[in-house]
Amino acid sequence: MDIILLGAPGAGKGTQAKVLEERSGLVHVASGDLFRAALRQGTELGMLAKSYMDRGELVPDEVVIRMIVERISRPDCRMGVIFDGFPRTLEQAEALEQELQHHDRRIDRVIYLKVPEQVLLRRIAGRQTCKTCGATYNIYYFPSKRPDICDLCRGKLYQRNDDNLETARHRLEVYFSQTMPLIEYYTQQNSMVEVDGQREISLVTDIMLQSIGINGDNAEKQV
Ligand code: AP5
Repeated sequence: MDIILLGAPGAGKGTQAKVLEERSGLVHVASGDLFRAALRQGTELGMLAKSYMDRGELVPDEVVIRMIVERISRPDCRMGVIFDGFPRTLEQAEALEQELQHHDRRIDRVIYLKVPEQVLLRRIAGRQTCKTCGATYNIYYFPSKRPDICDLCRGKLYQRNDDNLETARHRLEVYFSQTMPLIEYYTQQNSMVEVDGQREISLVTDIMLQSIGINGDNAEKQV
């Protein structure tokens, strides 16, 4: 099964994808995480991506597509992938479809996490990520027990370079102009479900799990 998580910066794609990966056995592939890993390794790809990410611009399609095609060609992705942050343009969506077709696969479900703009900005501005294990916190919604220290592994928490308010605003503009058209695209293909991403994290998880045919823990609370 192959799933796309679609949604604006801060909508909760990464948060949900980590849980879905554990519950579904599918592999979480996040384009932003791949770029940040490349940057940590000091590769050319990482340096190139940084020049776009720091400005809140999209990395050019051909670069992203090449990276994703390489990633999903690895054996661990054979049973299916949760795509997080990819595709972000129509060109990327078409390239993904073609690539999956080569392997007799197709996108089974697109889950659109819908969250209002003012909530998105607050979530982005408040996000903290653990340098060691990648866990995410939020200083407004669920801070770590000790300031700037990860509850899980005691790693140091940091704020992403592109999570300042100015860049976040620009990332949202880029999302509205370049990625929103995908909502119409996938609606026409009848593969999309819309989920209210403002609800409690565990409830959002359950609704998403149900949309791919897996029972959640809080099903009775969803009415
Ligand atoms: P990327 O890393 O993909 O970032 P993004 O799409 O902007 O998404 P975010 O990671 O900001 O948000 P999220 O939806 O994952 O939210 P999260 O779960 O963390 O991309 C970064 C950059 O890389 C791009 O700008 C671009 O330059 C480049 N790039 C990446 N992919 C590309 C592509 N395909 N093409 C071209 N360029 C590309 O949640 C956010 C916060 O909210 C957290 O603090 C979390 O704890 C909190 N939260 C989550 N859910 C809830 C909830 N239900 N209630 C309360 N708080 C919540």
